[in-house]
Amino acid sequence: MKIIKLSAIDSTNTYLINLGKKEVLLDETIVVAESQNKGRGQLGNMWQSKPMQSLTFSVFKRFGNLPVSNLSSIAFAVSIGVHLALKKVLVPQVTIKWPNDIMSYSKKVTGILIENQLKHNKIVSSVIGIGLNVNEEDFENLPQATSILLSTGKKQNLDEVLQLVSESILNQLQRVEQGDYQNLKKEYEKVLFRKNIISVFENDQGFRFNGKIKGVSEAGEILIENEQEITSKYQLKEIKYL
Ligand code: BTN
Repeated sequence: MKIIKLSAIDSTNTYLINLGKKEVLLDETIVVAESQNKGRGQLGNMWQSKPMQSLTFSVFKRFGNLPVSNLSSIAFAVSIGVHLALKKVLVPQVTIKWPNDIMSYSKKVTGILIENQLKHNKIVSSVIGIGLNVNEEDFENLPQATSILLSTGKKQNLDEVLQLVSESILNQLQRVEQGDYQNLKKEYEKVLFRKNIISVFENDQGFRFNGKIKGVSEAGEILIENEQEITSKYQLKEIKYL
């Protein structure tokens, strides 16, 4: 893997996507920035992070023309990779909050933004953006966030965490290339946040209901069983956890 280190950039995802349009990128190129001034999150949200305390990086992964029907397995593999790496540094009670927030107890440690490059209905490559809270000691306006330091009491070396997490992600992505889709889905479902626990959800019509997460569909939609024991699937924009 090749690592490009930048001091400041708008967004490592944007940087890597644009670089890929200008030159042929080496598979497994990683771009890490000390600070981002336009960090992007899911659903068009912003991603804010503290320079020198957190990791903001993106991984470029090339695929040999993966069918779009296997898009979700990339997200499963990346989430599992981060999950395993955080367990290695002893973050307690790590789970994956659908679709791919990595949690310790009920607080978020890592956000993931995957952007895929498609050609003729095949995935040719992905840019996988990782925002990982490492050594933050507080999150003033973000009560739902935590860091490795806050959850373990141990300060980390940023370069070592970068190495650990990126290797773990790339290892899991090999399973996508090998076609290990079913097992990736099963492993992802095993560590889903609040699986089988009654939670309150709101659908895109503003309707609130109690339900239990049962798993995910092959396409990566979340499966929620309501009080009438009917299971429905939802895409990211269609459902909110409350
Ligand atoms: C989310 O939880 O909403 C996803 C956050 C992803 C943030 C990372 S930081 C590195 C990379 N560059 C970006 O602009 N976003 C991702």
